[in-house]
Amino acid sequence: MTIDEIPDDIPTSARVYGWYLGGKDNYEVDRQFAIEHLPEFPEGLDVTRANRLFLYRAVRYLVQDAGIKQFIDMGCGLPTDDNVHQVAQRFAPDARVVYVDIDPIVLIHARALLAGDGSTTVITADMRDQDTILNHEDTRRLIDFNEPVAVLFLSVGHHLPDADDPRRILSTILDRAVSGSHLAFSQAVTENAARGADLQARMTGAGIPWQTRSRAEVDALMDGLVPVDPGLVDVEDWRPDPGQPPLAPAPVEIAHFLGASKLSRDIREYGGVLRKP
Ligand SMILES: C[S@@+](CC[C@H](N)C(=O)[O-])C[C@H]1O[C@@H](n2cnc3c(N)ncnc32)[C@H](O)[C@@H]1O
Repeated sequence: MTIDEIPDDIPTSARVYGWYLGGKDNYEVDRQFAIEHLPEFPEGLDVTRANRLFLYRAVRYLVQDAGIKQFIDMGCGLPTDDNVHQVAQRFAPDARVVYVDIDPIVLIHARALLAGDGSTTVITADMRDQDTILNHEDTRRLIDFNEPVAVLFLSVGHHLPDADDPRRILSTILDRAVSGSHLAFSQAVTENAARGADLQARMTGAGIPWQTRSRAEVDALMDGLVPVDPGLVDVEDWRPDPGQPPLAPAPVEIAHFLGASKLSRDIREYGGVLRKP
């Protein structure tokens, strides 16, 4: 697929999320989708950006504290600053990363970033089909399942509705992983069922698979894994580090929503890092 063949008439998660992070690889339809729905969900910009800052701290922890050198990043999103391989290789230069995303635009934009990098690859695949990802030649080349692996499902849990059986999806890959492997997971949560349902209806109405969960529903998906400190929390509270590298500025069109999550705290991004015993 070439960039000219990418559909530009419906928003995609990768492009809307990338725009919130200050990225340029998005279309009018993505920006309009965000501008239409942010007034109803003003905390969305903050929680998205908090998730990306959490990604940095989680990957740094996984390399520095857990000693992991191989990563599979499910629903990796468009390349931005401090992508997983860049964070991992900053702390372990020989770290290897398999990126997976269903949106072909991710592969198109990642090609240039990863050209000549033999330790990192991007697969266009559906994370609901873990067997295809596990059997992919790039996964077999870069990931040694005899060694601990980190599997990242960051800000993608909400893209896995119960109908897709997220427990099965997680256990397919974690069953292959040795003891000492880790899962990093996050997703949009709320304890306000009405707002959660509204968010879900807007997303699915735009063609983006979505399930807003409660914290307890996310906890239940993690059965059998051991959370590392501080457990599953709002991601901004997961080992906060005010000195970590900042994100790119938010787009001017929506920058007035920055800080809105201090006023409206219903929708949060919830997650953590867990170890396979
Ligand atoms: C909100 S972004 C998260 C990006 C990145 N993981 C992060 O935390 O910064 C969600 C990404 O998941 C991808 N995605 C959604 N459903 C997917 C699926 N079934 N399989 C693979 N990727 C998927 C989207 O294309 C998008 O790039």
